[in-house]
Amino acid sequence: MRLLVNIDHVATLRNARGEGVPDPIRAARVSEEAGAAGIVFHLREDRRHIKDDDVYRLKNAVTGLLDFEMAATEEMIRIALDVKPHLVTLVPESRQELTTEGGLDMKKVYDDYKNRVVPAFKEAGIEMSLFIDPNPEDIELTAELGCEAIELHTGVFANARQEIAIAQELERLIRGAKLAHKLGLKVNAGHGLDFDNIHRFIQEVPHLHDISIGHALITDAIFRGLYNSVKAMNDIITK
Ligand code: PXP
Repeated sequence: MRLLVNIDHVATLRNARGEGVPDPIRAARVSEEAGAAGIVFHLREDRRHIKDDDVYRLKNAVTGLLDFEMAATEEMIRIALDVKPHLVTLVPESRQELTTEGGLDMKKVYDDYKNRVVPAFKEAGIEMSLFIDPNPEDIELTAELGCEAIELHTGVFANARQEIAIAQELERLIRGAKLAHKLGLKVNAGHGLDFDNIHRFIQEVPHLHDISIGHALITDAIFRGLYNSVKAMNDIITK
């Protein structure tokens, strides 16, 4: 099991001032130095965090696995084929959402993926992971398409507050992971995982391969770091 760090929200913070810092590429370097097996970024149609230029700089800087999260639009496929990441993670995307809201509806996208999307990445030798909810039918359709991996959507588990809802969703994730593994798919997972819920998730769900975490790491980094930053500035000013 390996950790992949999603650095999108370093770019969110940078874009708030429209200047060059904090640089998501620096965040990628620090993450790899700290032991992350790779870096994930989501290039959105509206470019609200990661920009095209970041994608090419990440390609040059990242030494581990580079996971390009994207909607399967013609524009994104063209960029991904040019950048050649190790892995593309295909997600549904809507302009209004604050973050990815759920997995792909495999019945809806199956024919389009089979005819247009999967052949493009197969030909380029880029592995594909599909972000899906832990529904058996969606997992089976992902395997039928010949994709290498699924990424289990953990958002419902992460957002559940009542024990009964947490246990129910965990059970669906456990069954989904077992089925995917049986069908020869790698089992990745992500969305909403944090320092509290990660323990139970990795203890109970089998066959996990890559765990993708973004928001919780960037928010935690602020508070692990802020004390030292304030202290350093205060030292300059008071001395
Ligand atoms: N995996 C996918 C497919 C995502 O869309 C996201 C959010 O960008 C993540 C993982 C990471 O989620 P979080 O930022 O909540 O850790």
